[in-house]
Formats: sequence, C-alpha cells, structure tokens
Amino acid sequence: MSQNHILIFDTTLRDGEQAPGASMTVPEKVAIARQLARLNVDVIEAGFPVSSPGQYEAVRRVVAEVSGPTICALARAVEQDIRAAGEALQGGARTRIHTFIATSDIHIDAKFGDDRFGKTLREKRQTILRMVDEAVRYACTFTDDVEFSAEDAGRTDLGYLCEVVQAAVAAGATTINIPDTTGYCIPSEYAEMFTTVRACLAGRDDVILSTHCHDDLGLAVANSLAAVQAGARQVECTINGIGERAGNAALEEVVMALKVRGSKFGVDTRIVTRELAATSKMVSVACGFPVPPNKAIVGRNAFSHEAGIHQHGVLRRRDTYEIMRAEDVGQEPEQIRLGRHSGRHGFFSRLEKLGAQVAEDQRETLYQQFVELADRKKEIYDADLLHLVDQHRLRVTEPHYRINAMKVSVDTTGQPQAEVQVYLSRSGVIRTVQAEGEGPVEAIYRAIDEAVGDAHELISYDIHSVSQGSDALGEVTVMIRFAGTSFRGSARSVDVLKASADAYIEAINKMEMHRTEEENVAFVGRGIIESFQ
Ligand code: KIV
Ligand code: ZN
Repeated sequence: MSQNHILIFDTTLRDGEQAPGASMTVPEKVAIARQLARLNVDVIEAGFPVSSPGQYEAVRRVVAEVSGPTICALARAVEQDIRAAGEALQGGARTRIHTFIATSDIHIDAKFGDDRFGKTLREKRQTILRMVDEAVRYACTFTDDVEFSAEDAGRTDLGYLCEVVQAAVAAGATTINIPDTTGYCIPSEYAEMFTTVRACLAGRDDVILSTHCHDDLGLAVANSLAAVQAGARQVECTINGIGERAGNAALEEVVMALKVRGSKFGVDTRIVTRELAATSKMVSVACGFPVPPNKAIVGRNAFSHEAGIHQHGVLRRRDTYEIMRAEDVGQEPEQIRLGRHSGRHGFFSRLEKLGAQVAEDQRETLYQQFVELADRKKEIYDADLLHLVDQHRLRVTEPHYRINAMKVSVDTTGQPQAEVQVYLSRSGVIRTVQAEGEGPVEAIYRAIDEAVGDAHELISYDIHSVSQGSDALGEVTVMIRFAGTSFRGSARSVDVLKASADAYIEAINKMEMHRTEEENVAFVGRGIIESFQ
C-alpha cells in the first residue's frame, strides 16, 4: 500500500447497525455489502458474529456473496468471540479479525472490577496486556490480517495506550485502531495521540494506524481528518454517519473532504464517489433513518440553489457556489429549485429549458405571477410553471369560447339535461345548445361539444374538494386530446357543475390557441415558399 493511500474501512453493517432502532435483515446487509463493493471500500466490517445467530449468518453470507473488499468480523479479546469470528469468515478470499479490549481507567473500573483481573489498577492493566497478547495471537491462527482496537483510546492514559499498542503489534496485529469511542476528543488532541503512538511504534512503519470516531460532539469527521494529517492511513466510518448514539464519522464526508481538499492532505482513497448518493439511499431505506435534506454530500438540498443571487451565480459558473460537482457524488447536477427566494434569472432559465416561450413584454407580469404563487406554495415544480404560462397566455389573449350562461336540470324520472350558451369570439356568434347525458356533467360536456363543434376526446376528469364543509370549493381538472396532443383545464368553484364547465372550456381554449399558433406557423411557412416560387 502506498503511503499516500487511505484505506476506507466501512462499519455501517456493524457499528452503524448498532444505532438505536437501525437493525437490518440479513438480505438487506448482503445487498448493502454488494453496494459497498461497488463503492470500492477497502474493508467491510460485516458484523459481530458471537453476538447473535443473525450477526453470524450475516458475516457468513457477506463472505460467500461479496467479492472485492476485505471482509472483517468483530470480536472481543476473548477466545469464544475470536473463534466465532474466525469460523464465520472461513472460506473468504480476504478476511480480517478485528479484536478489541477497553483500555481507559473508566472502562477498566467498570468492566474489570472483579478481583480475578487484579486488585489494583496496575494489576488490572497488566491483565489486559496479557489478554491483548493472547487474543491477537489466537486471531492470527485464523487469518494473517488482524486488527486491534484499544476501546475508549480517546480517554486512555497515553503511556499505557503505547504499552497496549506495542503488545498488540508484537503479537502480530497489522492494523492498530485508536478509537474515540465516546466522541470526547477534539481534533488537535486526537491528532497528537496518533503522533505519539506512531513514535512508540518506531521501526514498524508497516503497521497501519486507524481512526474510528464517534460524533457525540459533532467532531467525528474533523477528528478523523486530523488523524489522517497526523499519519493515520485507515479511516473507519459509516454511510450517512449512522452508529451508536450520535453516530460515527460519515464516510461520504470524510471521502469528499479528502478529495476536494486533496492538496491539504496529499492522500487519496479508491472510493468510486459517484456511487455515494445511491449507497446513502440504500442504507437510509434499509435502516429506516431518513437522510436530512441539508446533510452534506448526500442530502437532497446539498446541491440545490434557491436564493436568486446563488441561482444567478451558479447558472453563470457552477463553482461560484459549488465546491464539488453534484454528478461526482451521484447527485443531479445544477439543481435550481424554484421557490420564494428565486430571482428572474433562475425562473426564465427554467422556462427556457422547458421550452416555454414568453413574449418580451409579458415577462415581468409572468414573473410577478410566479412570485405570488411561490409565496403560497413551498416549492414550484415544472408542471406548476407550465400551468402558470398557459394560464397567463389565456388571460392575455381573448379566449375562443366563453360560457355566457348555463342551466342544468336533474330529474330522477329521466336523464339530466343541460342548456349551455357559448360565445364564439372569432365570429361574434352566440350558440345555445341543449343536450342530455347519463349525468349532469356529461350533459354539459355534450352541449359544449356541439356548440364548439370540435372532434376532441375527453381523456380524464378529476374532482376533489380543496376546503371543508358543505360549501367546500370543488376543483375540477380535465384532460382532452386532439390530434395526439393533450390539453389540461382546471377550475374551482363552490358550484361543481360550473367548475366542470369552466375547466372543460379552458382545455378547449388551450387546444384552439395551440391550433391557431400552428396555423400561423404553417401560414408564414407557406408565404415564404410562395415568395420563392
Ligand atoms: O467505538 C469503538 O470503540 C468501537 C470499537 C469496537 C472499535 O466501535
Ligand atoms: Zn465505534
């Protein structure tokens, strides 16, 4: 391994799964392990085999079904755990046993209180050194890749930590992990621990020092990066930062910090970063923890711009407000989100992308209508924009048809009847038509069809209430089709029959407007051809 290469040790399936409420099924773990292999992590910690039959099975299945990364299993520094880990890993192409024991005074007091470990702290520490030696030697009988962790190293006396680490290396450990188990350290002191441990392992540059940080003070990523600057060459982390309590260092954040600020670290990873977003989604779904929208790298908003100044900047040069490319982490590029803070630039550039044309003298009015809508609605989608443009066009052009009056009678002894009076603006004619239908809406639509004389087809009709009570507003949306193109109309009223008629006539007016525009284009085209003849 090159001195400039950082190994990414993913512990999503082990420490990540220890997050309260985050348990995953064995098939989910196998699917995630496959995705971690696509992401190209160096080591997958697949579980803690002795802790439950499910954990044992998960490690076995990952070993059997996932190739590429080294597969690792966790074991306390006791024979029974190490045997379970070794057996679960059997048959794997590249396997690692990760054994650990607590080394801080607080943990020693709590876990080794029994006199059989010694009466004084000094004696208990000696016992632990012996256990480290025996555990690592035993683990080496299953694999030549053994990692040792001094649990709660972050609060361990530095002199004693060095003794423990030396014992583990002398027994055959090739990776030494120095976990900040409780998320207590700050970056400068955590970095110092690595400098000290490296010094006490003089002459053993082949031993890889590893970081493993928890996020109790929100410093897990910062501490991991500080350790890298102090010589760590393996980072233990989890997807989305899931893990015990406040979680572990987030893999995606560590990896992208090392990549984006490469010149500060002078190291690289082998991670295929464009797989980050997909991996994050998969883990979020499997463990049931939604990814917050503002989560760095993989959050929905991580590459979205809403403020007008930002949208303007990004549309000119993405690097004005983006320090990495969204597509490099598997997110959608150039996410201009339209909302109440968006400016003209973002708005018109989106309209242009949607192919919606707006006359120069109509632009400002349309933008003001958009601002009004954005004040009412949190996020504006493309469909909202197209509807806004259509509505605006209808308002500024005289509609082809207008309903002047309408009468509907529903009689339980016969079919409902409608009489509709339609004004045809092109000819100035008023047509009054009567029709019957299976229901009142059908009767109205038949009467309108006859009045306008078009061969369009009704594709859908939806009605729903947009307020409550017997005087609720009904919103009707209809879609009609003519010559392969669909047109939508919508209207609201407390009178649902009126809303039905208005929505239908709006769709027909859109269709007529479209036909007029097509005719104009054809007419201009014919004129050009004729002028050449
Ligand atoms: O946080 C921790 O100390 C651990 C060890 C088992 C490495 O997860
Ligand atoms: Zn941990």
